[in-house]
Amino acid sequence: MLVKEKCNAVMWRMVRRYLPYTLVGAVILLLLYRTQLPCKESQPYIHARERIATDSSGAVHKYDRGEALIFIGGMPRSGTTLARAMLDAHPNIRCGEETRVVPRILQMRQQWKRSAKESMRLQEAGVTDEVLDEAISSFILDIVVNHGHPASRLCNKDPFTLKSASYLSKLFPNSKFLFMVRDGRATVHSIISRKVTITGFDLSSYKQCLQRWNNAVQTMNTQCEELGPTKCLHVYYEQLVLHPQEWMKKILNFLEIEWNDAVLHHEDHINKPGGVSLSKVERSSDQVVKPVNLDALTKWVGQIPKEVVEDMANIAPMLATLGYDPYANPPNYGQADPMVANNTKRIIREMNKWQDRAEEALSLSKHRKGDNT
Ligand code: A3P
Repeated sequence: MLVKEKCNAVMWRMVRRYLPYTLVGAVILLLLYRTQLPCKESQPYIHARERIATDSSGAVHKYDRGEALIFIGGMPRSGTTLARAMLDAHPNIRCGEETRVVPRILQMRQQWKRSAKESMRLQEAGVTDEVLDEAISSFILDIVVNHGHPASRLCNKDPFTLKSASYLSKLFPNSKFLFMVRDGRATVHSIISRKVTITGFDLSSYKQCLQRWNNAVQTMNTQCEELGPTKCLHVYYEQLVLHPQEWMKKILNFLEIEWNDAVLHHEDHINKPGGVSLSKVERSSDQVVKPVNLDALTKWVGQIPKEVVEDMANIAPMLATLGYDPYANPPNYGQADPMVANNTKRIIREMNKWQDRAEEALSLSKHRKGDNT
């Protein structure tokens, strides 16, 4: 009996001593549990896992949203493929073909955001900005990582992504952007003469195409300037082809990547393992197999209707903003480096050889991808 009473006394002492702690613990647990309950304002987010890829040498590459991705953009026909091919030749960089889906998902998101009604519906459904950003960045990262071989620096070239540079920079805070700029008259001549279909461009009108070029380039320029010079670099097509060494040095410095001579000879790396992978359906593939040359610099001169040439400054004010004289036909773009002048002569002299190279590269790429069409 005495033992029982003693036990009860000890138990009560323990209860009195530990009860307050137990209660405080229970309250804390309850509070923690409540913050985990689904609620529109503060949904706990499950972050997508990092992507892991192993290259042919067995090196493991891990990619996540902190990746220093390189985005190359600009108006199509502004030398975007040449720029990415030159970077692709670098052993530490992989860009690859246009993915086409990256600019599309960005455009879709823009449409959702633009509509107040749609935005409200998404918010009500718990599809918050955070949820969307995480999903879109996962999608983009998956596409960029998986559509080509692993490399220490990954790059994406889909020209119109530059229109969303600020948003991309928010998704991937360490990314950098190259804005390919070309004389709009040359770009538009290329679009029209090569019949390159771009939504909203009327291929029968130089004037309308120049106006469209102006609007697109203005949007991209604003985005690039918003990011500032440490994040976004203007790369002028004319300067890149006239002085490839100087400009590739500038580009690699900007990207904080070590110099490698391969970037000056991208043509030697076409469809080689770890080199420049080409698509047989991209419109620039047959030009980019050639070394850097001056062929396309002034082909537009004399091709644009007189009344459009005379009103150029009003039709395309972005020409002057970007440093092109709207009334010079052509402007003085500068003197080419000897290497480029030699390449150009060589290409003219060996026309058939380069045509065969183009056909071979494109059929190789067809074979490589197992496409039977
Ligand atoms: P043209 O159509 O005026 O010839 P993008 O790849 O952005 O669509 O740009 C295409 C332009 O880049 C083409 O202009 C093409 O000639 C030029 N280009 C491609 N490869 C080149 C090279 N090796 N040297 C110089 N320009 C090149």
